[in-house]
Amino acid sequence: MSEIQYDGRVAIITGAGNGLGKCHALEFAKRGAKVVVNDLGGAMDGSGGGAAAADQVVDEIKQAGGIAVANYDSVATPEGGEAIVKTALDNFGQVDILVNNAGILRDRSFAKMSVAEADAVLDVHLKGGFYVTLPAFRAMKEKQYGRIIFTASAAGVFGNFGQANYGAAKMGLVGLSNVLAQEGAKCNIKSNVIAPIAETRMTEGVMDGLGLKLDSEYVTAMVCYLAAEQCELTHEIYSVGAGRYARVFVGANVGWNDSQAESISADDVAAHIEQIRDLSDYTVPGSAAEEIGEAMKNLK
Ligand code: NAI
Repeated sequence: MSEIQYDGRVAIITGAGNGLGKCHALEFAKRGAKVVVNDLGGAMDGSGGGAAAADQVVDEIKQAGGIAVANYDSVATPEGGEAIVKTALDNFGQVDILVNNAGILRDRSFAKMSVAEADAVLDVHLKGGFYVTLPAFRAMKEKQYGRIIFTASAAGVFGNFGQANYGAAKMGLVGLSNVLAQEGAKCNIKSNVIAPIAETRMTEGVMDGLGLKLDSEYVTAMVCYLAAEQCELTHEIYSVGAGRYARVFVGANVGWNDSQAESISADDVAAHIEQIRDLSDYTVPGSAAEEIGEAMKNLK
């Protein structure tokens, strides 16, 4: 694989005023992409806003000789999503790469969580993913090219105490990416998910003392790889951070079946539960149809 460059490519990075998004934006620009630096500029809980965060990153890119434009819209509304993509189209004529990265936190144990806390997080992460990706996907389809990266989290993929809103939103993005991977396949649009780990304002102090190297650059390396023209991967999930790169997947084991039985009771399930749970042999279906195909193999 030759060195990854994005000359002639246009990348939108949401939430690029801080943390991971900023690191991605700087690297994309360094490698030749024209970058839309989107950031609402608010606090970690999503309150407030301002132009400074995005402007600062755009200045940094320009000072290094790169090309970038700022956008201050929120990903969390349909109008915001349209406006972010319009910024790319108006300034650079196309959208080739979209990194859905913007995020907020409203942590609370589930029993104590308010509907407002749930909505705020679902709006930014999950609906935000929809609102920005929808116009971007249409623009990509027109040009028959696209690379989409969604930013999920181990909190969703594996679960984390106090993050029901966040975990649900993040896992929702996995479902969205999986469908877009299929719908984009004929148009050379690839869609993948990362679950990052890095020290940013969002995780400040959380991983202290563990001895991990938590630079955002480790995460950016994977994002930049997935966004490359040479990268044919799609419909995948990667856990990335602290120098570790690992594929995460949703698989199904061989399981137990008895397609000949007239009926199957809870007692039959109980009798076979070890086989139903046995992970020694499994598949990683690339679509719902492939998973149904696995069940059909057992039809006599
Ligand atoms: P961060 O707080 O440094 O950056 C998030 C950026 O998103 C901020 O600049 C913020 O202003 C922006 N933002 C928030 N709401 C927005 C909205 N409605 N519209 C536009 N921009 C908005 O946090 P960090 O750590 O860089 O997070 C980036 C992404 O990575 C988030 O989606 C986060 O959930 C995810 N993530 C981060 C992890 C980590 O270890 N840092 C772990 C797992 C996931």
